[in-house]
Amino acid sequence: MSKKFSLMEDSNASTNKSIHALSDPQRRRILLGGLGFAISSLFRPLTAASGLTALQACANATPANSLLGFSAIPPSTADTITLPPGYRYDVIAAWGEPVGMIEKMPAFANDASNSADEQALQFGMHHDGMQYFPIDGSRHGLLVINHEYTDDGLLHATGMKNWNDETVKKSQAAHGVSVVEIILKNDRWEIVRPSPYARRITANTPMRLAGPAAGHTLMKTAADPAAMTVMGTLNNCGSGMTPWGTYLTCEENFMYYFKPADNENFDQKRWRLAKGNGFFRWHEFDDRFDMNKHPNEPNRFGWIVEVDPFDPDSMPVKRTAMGRATHEAATVTVTKDGRAVVYSGEDARFEYIYKFVSRDKIAAGGAKANATLLDHGTLYVAKFNDDNSGEWMPLVHGKFPLTAENGFADQGDVVIKSRQASDLLGATKMDRPEWIVIDAQRREVFCALTNNSDRGKVGKPSVDKANPRAKNTMGHIIRWQETNDFDGTTFRWEHFVLAGDPAHNDKDKQGDINGSLFACPDGLWLDQRGVLWIQTDIASSSIGEGDFKNIGNNSMLATDPRSGEIRRFLTGPRGAEITGAITTPDNRTLFVNIQHPGEIENSRNDPQQPDKISSWPFGGRPRSATVVIRKTDGGLIGA
Ligand code: FEO
Ligand code: CA
Ligand code: CA
Repeated sequence: MSKKFSLMEDSNASTNKSIHALSDPQRRRILLGGLGFAISSLFRPLTAASGLTALQACANATPANSLLGFSAIPPSTADTITLPPGYRYDVIAAWGEPVGMIEKMPAFANDASNSADEQALQFGMHHDGMQYFPIDGSRHGLLVINHEYTDDGLLHATGMKNWNDETVKKSQAAHGVSVVEIILKNDRWEIVRPSPYARRITANTPMRLAGPAAGHTLMKTAADPAAMTVMGTLNNCGSGMTPWGTYLTCEENFMYYFKPADNENFDQKRWRLAKGNGFFRWHEFDDRFDMNKHPNEPNRFGWIVEVDPFDPDSMPVKRTAMGRATHEAATVTVTKDGRAVVYSGEDARFEYIYKFVSRDKIAAGGAKANATLLDHGTLYVAKFNDDNSGEWMPLVHGKFPLTAENGFADQGDVVIKSRQASDLLGATKMDRPEWIVIDAQRREVFCALTNNSDRGKVGKPSVDKANPRAKNTMGHIIRWQETNDFDGTTFRWEHFVLAGDPAHNDKDKQGDINGSLFACPDGLWLDQRGVLWIQTDIASSSIGEGDFKNIGNNSMLATDPRSGEIRRFLTGPRGAEITGAITTPDNRTLFVNIQHPGEIENSRNDPQQPDKISSWPFGGRPRSATVVIRKTDGGLIGA
């Protein structure tokens, strides 16, 4: 997400007890590898985040059998994709290409003159989370791609100059999800067009509400008095894949789509549904997004939505039992007895990390057999203690303090107001939790905390041990190990890496990276070989500037989690974020999304000069797209 948004990603003014300010000497010990890390290294096999300086770690860490077999590439400011020797890439699924719905395949118009109806049949903008669903192993499958948001300066031929009903509809149609069929032919992946699977889901696709918030008073609107059907999904950021073959798409910064009420209340302010929003200007031609007229509409966003990609006629379902949040992504694992566990971070300053444990076991029989699995279970929020222990605190109505006296009349209230409930429980306010990946064998969970430039500022929470840097512009990755099983309510945590630049003159921004420098970790992917992939999202307005002057364009890096050694694998074009990664089951193809090439500070390109910053990938107007990476010898990616 761009700086425009990140500036507004701070609405947690609660004073819950998770703020454990450390004195400067304590903080220095953490950064330099003192007592704090000695405690936390109970489950760390090697020296990755041990607090050694990057230099020491470089000398000590790489095991002889490293999972990484390529040479790290240098930072780049070029308007292109760069990969290590021996790798090549193709671009597919660029914004505006038809997804291949039968007999409906409007071509992309280079001047952005496609209509809203055409856009609804083409790939949306700003590709983000993505999953691969095999049809025939690693040669043929479905690729499902989130489209997080739009640059309306780039989306329309005249930008936002002639803002009207049609431009709003086109903007809404460029949001959501694309489902496409892809096949490997002669060593190249192609989109199958037309395909019976091809589908677009947009901000106007009907979807069902399920779980405790379905039918709830706070979800009722004039158009949906039963509170059972919502039109659309938006700001679809990261994603997840369930073991029963469905796709989870996550609604992140929904607040920017709503014109706030003139007199916003406490709950609305807590969700940043306050003055200054309405950024997307949909409310000017679509009443649904005006909170003065439809105050409950924002409650119907901020959910994890389940989609069956193999059934294009199926209605997506908003699974409210997993809580409302500005959900970054949703990552699924399974308990020893076969229940689903879904982890999700809430990407905003001082917000929380959640997990949901299903009540029932996963049934054999795919999506249909598990149609209500994510509607029943327990939602938890994380507390990271200073002694490196952690707790999962249940968000369960009736259990103190989540009672009617505190504003929670039922479980629907708890999941709709999960931020407020987490405040009361004293959950730990994190530095913008982004993607989460899981090493099921080791019961380890990794979460990217992208940055938080507000920590330590006057009136803001100070550092705590899990979020140890004031004005954390660089970000870090935290990992924890669940006690016994993934449904456990306790864990042990440590830092995997503090990102930064060892050459920075502020010690707090040097980090402890063993290998290639990077900042602002965001997307994560743990591949079939156990390589942890890290994607970065330095705000487009800050790339190459200030703290980030030595780091270059956003990048993708690979880590062997056993050693913590990090090597830069891909550098992206100018202005782009690298986000969304998935490997085929054979680990020989890596799909990566390039989001918003050419983005400028306020996320709105100049329609007179759309290629001012970037013309990736095809020259002319920059377009978000999926990059397909293969080794020239067809070998294992990263090896
Ligand atoms: Fe959608 Fe937090 O990035
Ligand atoms: Ca981000
Ligand atoms: Ca992200």
